[in-house]
Amino acid sequence: MNYQNPQLMLEPGSIPGGAVRWRSPSNIAIVKYWGKHGVQLPRNPSFSFTLDSAATDTRVAYGPKQNHGATIDLQFRFAGEERPDFADRVSRFLESLLPVYPFLRQLQLQVETDNSFPHSAGIASSASAMSALALCLVDIERILFGQPEDQADFNRKASYLARLGSGSASRSIYGQSAIWGQTGEVEESSDEYAIPSAELTHPVFHTFHDDILLISRSEKSVSSRAGHGLMENNIYADNRYAQARQRMHELLRALRTGDLEKFGEICESEALTLHALMMTSSPPYLLMEPNTLAAIRSIQAYRRDTGHPVYFTLDAGPNIHLLYPGDLYPEVRQYVRQELLPLCADQQYIADKVGTGPLKLETE
Ligand code: PMV
Repeated sequence: MNYQNPQLMLEPGSIPGGAVRWRSPSNIAIVKYWGKHGVQLPRNPSFSFTLDSAATDTRVAYGPKQNHGATIDLQFRFAGEERPDFADRVSRFLESLLPVYPFLRQLQLQVETDNSFPHSAGIASSASAMSALALCLVDIERILFGQPEDQADFNRKASYLARLGSGSASRSIYGQSAIWGQTGEVEESSDEYAIPSAELTHPVFHTFHDDILLISRSEKSVSSRAGHGLMENNIYADNRYAQARQRMHELLRALRTGDLEKFGEICESEALTLHALMMTSSPPYLLMEPNTLAAIRSIQAYRRDTGHPVYFTLDAGPNIHLLYPGDLYPEVRQYVRQELLPLCADQQYIADKVGTGPLKLETE
């Protein structure tokens, strides 16, 4: 897919102003993306559930640029405050999009963004942030140039742009769940953008809850970007990519048939593999905390004692995602409150679930 388009420029002198606003959720990967090449291309396909309440709300206002510099003209606020660190990342992202959207050079952009979850909570927000911004940009393209016309094309392009900002963000464009990365088993799957996968999954997975247990709120000691980089010299890398493909094959089957046990086996193995890859990087590093392990042990014991299909996964951090079918919510809620909250920083958790995907909002 080549989205580069040097023709996509506005008529000077008649550049309109306007604003768009999108809310886009985070997602949690079951088969993980860890290791990349080229321009943000994944070494293996991944699958994630799209979340509901953990989301980013982004408003982009645009108008004709006053100065005639060739770079991006950006004013940026996060939660009402200037954040030069975030602004830099957004600026670099927008600049990287100039071959696709040369008209961004003609605009003055004001980006205001905020997360639904406390930003000190230690939850990665790049998936929701980059997907919300990508959706705003494709929406601006639609307003200014009348394209993409088709909703599937709109989503594909938003996913493509989001991927360039943060790989996992490509999957947040779709409700329920998404697949990113080419696999012969799923028609139309691609390394360049994610595709929706709700139709490939048994209805039980549409009800899934994800309780995000905030084990620690401290900043990650190693960023995901650096972590992906370390995979290049990880001696297990090739076996890992082969394993991810095999697990994807098995996961797709479990998702289709509603095989919760198989799903859980893959889900927990993937979480531990992700962290094992960090521990076997050079230099090695460790993102789990003692309470991460305590929570894992507790969840496994609860599953053994009750027979309930509750499973954990981890992102690139110490926090636990507890996944289970929605009909177990009342019971699992009690367990979480009694047994797992004491392991969380300030007893905090986010009761999230599989959601319906991004939403366009009113700008006022
Ligand atoms: O999207 P990135 O570049 O921040 O990578 C994140 C990768 C994981 O969250 C650890 C796994 C995944 O597939 O989401």
